[in-house]
Amino acid sequence: MKLLPLTGIFLMAQPLITLDFLDTPTLPAPSVDAVTHADTPSGEVRVNPATRTGRSRKLYLESYGCQMNFSDSEIVSSILFDEGFDTTDSLDQADLVLLNTCSIREKAEQTVRMRLSQINSYKKRRPGMLVGVLGCMAERLKSKFLEEEKLVDLVVGPDAYRDLPQLISQVDGGQKAVNVLLSREETYADITPVRLNSNGITAFISIMRGCDNMCSFCVVPFTRGRERSRDAHSIVREAQELVAAGYKEVTLLGQNVDSYKWASADGTEQVNFAQLLEQVALVSPALRVRFSTSHPKDITDEVLHTMARHENICKYIHLPAQSGNSRVLALMNRTYDRPWYEERVQAIRRILGDDCAISTDMISGFCSETEEEHQDTLSLMELVRYDMAFMFFYSERPGTLAARKLADDVPLEVKKRRLAEVIARQKEHSRQRNARAVGQVHRVLAENFSKRSDEHLSGRNSQNQVIIFPKKHYQKGDYVDVLVNESTTNTLLGEAV
Ligand code: SAH
Ligand code: SF4
Ligand code: F3S
Repeated sequence: MKLLPLTGIFLMAQPLITLDFLDTPTLPAPSVDAVTHADTPSGEVRVNPATRTGRSRKLYLESYGCQMNFSDSEIVSSILFDEGFDTTDSLDQADLVLLNTCSIREKAEQTVRMRLSQINSYKKRRPGMLVGVLGCMAERLKSKFLEEEKLVDLVVGPDAYRDLPQLISQVDGGQKAVNVLLSREETYADITPVRLNSNGITAFISIMRGCDNMCSFCVVPFTRGRERSRDAHSIVREAQELVAAGYKEVTLLGQNVDSYKWASADGTEQVNFAQLLEQVALVSPALRVRFSTSHPKDITDEVLHTMARHENICKYIHLPAQSGNSRVLALMNRTYDRPWYEERVQAIRRILGDDCAISTDMISGFCSETEEEHQDTLSLMELVRYDMAFMFFYSERPGTLAARKLADDVPLEVKKRRLAEVIARQKEHSRQRNARAVGQVHRVLAENFSKRSDEHLSGRNSQNQVIIFPKKHYQKGDYVDVLVNESTTNTLLGEAV
């Protein structure tokens, strides 16, 4: 693995930023987001109390975007812990402020810009405080960030975190520093993440990085680089270590987990996603295994049969459709059409039954989408009856295939109206799918106290539905059989039996 550091002093020009306020709020994310669930309305600060060890410097790390970013923040914390940084959730104590950013929609970038201007006022009070930008926005804007945001000292892309100590010492020396080199090999396989805000029960494991798919609307291939799979042994080892530390659930993360493919250097060992899933499921029957995101073009029957064989692999598949119309799917460069998607859903129903939960991402108002094509999205939703969905209106991203080749010609009001129709339909389907659980007993992994009362525990069943129940003698981390007696759009209520 080789990373060539690109660092240096950058001359700064006048900032020139125009911000449009696009995007509308979508349905609230569930307690645990999957890899695709971006647009965290505000950044999240996560700390690890075990790193409050009286070290000389304090790191304040705020993360935005998808779970890959949150998972990367745990790698960054690990690298910086070894460099003498404790984590803190107080800006007032911070010596180093890092924002791990997202570029997926314009709104995501605006949120970070606004946060940076707030941090600016802190910096006036504490001039010694260093400010850095990590993640996808750093990768997209590169050194332009330093020109546009004068207070930023450090810009580091997602494949360059090993270079952080060197870059920070450069900033300590009074320079600005940038490393946005993407790598074809970096998987951070050997770095043990410092788990941030951990409940000690559920954890994420990154199994791959980057994306080779080039969906025409998407910025991820540009911000995260080429797809690469992490050494299967290091993944299984990480799962074993988590079990030994008392964890009960892992989620395997990647932009397209179904194209996971790893081979040993001598070529004697080859592991595909179904095989990896099985290896992780075999680590312990008491460990639940989840994964995200599945790409409709790549999810195989072998994966579905592996899920069916292992009770501890959760029966929940995030299978983003994006649109229900084949012409729009072709323009999106998704490489499947509607009949293909429908067949994959039938395969899920055939192999895993009606109870397996399916969720999606949908984009309303993509370039040239007609009213009939929008209706096709609604009819696909009617057909599949998703348990949950993440719904967005199209936001053009600079540099993507769509930005270069297609006109963003659906008026904003039309995009918003179509999105509202998609959201309304999904609310109804979520309500119906949740209602099916009433009267049934579901095994719940208790993860936290309920937000409303410490007398109630909250957790999820295999299908990823949130279930709340009176805690009685149960504790966080227990598997509890709960009889569901009430359902809403977002949650189920029940009693331990
Ligand atoms: N790898 C995942 C998606 C990651 S991005 C997959 O292929 O399914 C998460 C979601 O954001 C996407 O599924 C898509 O619905 C949405 N998204 C991505 N780019 C977008 C854009 N330019 N405008 C609106 N939504 C977008
Ligand atoms: Fe983006 Fe498509 Fe890759 Fe998902 S599969 S990250 S939508 S390019
Ligand atoms: Fe994730 Fe946002 Fe980057 S969704 S991969 S953090 S652009």
